[in-house]
Amino acid sequence: MVFARMRSLCAVLAVALTLGGEGVLALVPAFKPALPPTLPPVPANLPSAPAHTGAHGAVPALPAGIPALPAPPQWADARLNDYRPSKVRLAYRGDTGMAVSWSTHRQLPVPAVLYGKTPAALTSIATSTNSVTYNTSSYYSNHVVLDHLEPGTKYYYLPILGDPLRDVRSFTTAKPRGDETPYTIAVVADLGTMGSLGLSDHVPPGAANPLSTGEVTTIERLGMNKNRFDHIMHVGDIAYADYWLKEVVLGYINGTIAAGPELYEQINEEFYDEMNDITSSLPYHVAAGNHDSNCDNSGYKNYTEAICPPALTGFIGYNQHWNMPSSVSGGFKNMWYSYDVGMVHYVVFDTETDLGEGLVGPEDVGGSSHATDGPLATPSSAQMDFLKKDLAAVDRSKTPWVVAAGHRPWYMAAKASSLCTVCQTAFEQLFNDAGVDLVLSGHQHNMQRSGPLGPKGAIDANGLNNPKAPLYITTGAAGHFDGLDAAVSPYPAYSHFVNDTLYGFSTVAFHNRTHLTHEFVSSATGVVLDSATLYKQH
Ligand SMILES: [Fe+2]
Repeated sequence: MVFARMRSLCAVLAVALTLGGEGVLALVPAFKPALPPTLPPVPANLPSAPAHTGAHGAVPALPAGIPALPAPPQWADARLNDYRPSKVRLAYRGDTGMAVSWSTHRQLPVPAVLYGKTPAALTSIATSTNSVTYNTSSYYSNHVVLDHLEPGTKYYYLPILGDPLRDVRSFTTAKPRGDETPYTIAVVADLGTMGSLGLSDHVPPGAANPLSTGEVTTIERLGMNKNRFDHIMHVGDIAYADYWLKEVVLGYINGTIAAGPELYEQINEEFYDEMNDITSSLPYHVAAGNHDSNCDNSGYKNYTEAICPPALTGFIGYNQHWNMPSSVSGGFKNMWYSYDVGMVHYVVFDTETDLGEGLVGPEDVGGSSHATDGPLATPSSAQMDFLKKDLAAVDRSKTPWVVAAGHRPWYMAAKASSLCTVCQTAFEQLFNDAGVDLVLSGHQHNMQRSGPLGPKGAIDANGLNNPKAPLYITTGAAGHFDGLDAAVSPYPAYSHFVNDTLYGFSTVAFHNRTHLTHEFVSSATGVVLDSATLYKQH
């Protein structure tokens, strides 16, 4: 049965490669370079790769029927390169599954992932037909879910047509719900590309906070520390591809307004390539931010969303790129969903659209961003219905900790106009009533730890010693082209720590059922700049 599926996969891929993907070409963006006309056709039966040792040990032995791997010289074939995986990303799918996603410049008729418990024996295969793009994208997003895995177990995997010497990676499935083994996650928000298309050691007039020469970036520090983390949460504003406009207007990069979609994709690709080492090793769970839709930097200068092709609005790219566990949690696309790891229930919510109750989200039509990105779901109460049902169903005996993550904050030292009061109206009471322990956000480009706060910002008198109210932390200082935002003083009475001068990210260590520790880490030095331990009598 399995081998029959493999033979079928082989046949489909061989046909696609032999035909040069003719049926797919029409969907490739116009600006994408055409293949050189003199390339020889890709052989229908590629020879097997020779047995030699790479970074991950011996080349995996492929099961019979899997498309044969090309010999090294043929990796230079541009046609094959268009099918090779890049920008690999992972997401938990329960404790017995893992969503594996990756990008290819052409459509894969049958996306497939080989996997096994050792790098030399990738003897299982999972497939799908999920290879999608949008009409200005420079790549296809391929999604496959590996299921029937063992919880808390390490697996090796290789997306089809990946280089067996370079592209075999590993992941560990989630700790089962109720497992009280301590673990640590990293949390970032507002993290964009680093280098010539993003944050670098120089800025033009109009931007601020360049890196020092040789400064370790947040992406580099996360990579250096990735083995410490169970998984990573990115609470919105992910690639900052919409900053192409600001970067062109300020003269930071060359380009024209007409070239917007192409520049957008260049930044997108650079960011996800920079993140590949991290996102292919750890589950990477995302929330939607305002910069994850639109192409106009939220209306930079006098440019409006009218300059954006439709495909860059409505969170289309964001929802195609990632594959969060919404289908198994009752959520919606990558906008809202939940998942459990060990003793923690995580719920990711959408502050941009679909607030329900007649409320207009910032990115909804008529919202404060003057955008046209939402609402996205029907009925209009879909997100709130999900949150109420999801939070009511949490078994605190199994997952005593409940963490909620959404992009925009409503408590921090910032201009009043920068606080998402409509989000507060939508979510605050629900989170208080449900006993949410920790609310994570970003959006403002600094890091702030507020106290546990009850309704309308009432300071919980217990502080970190068994408060009833959620602890609010905004961690938006990861770094991107635009630098950091100054916190507005005087700080509110509930403000306990503010960093608006150094780039960094958060970690949250769940020690046991009753104690967690939040830390803010300097990306440049790795030094912990703030540490706070929350005690809850669960
Ligand atoms: Fe934002």
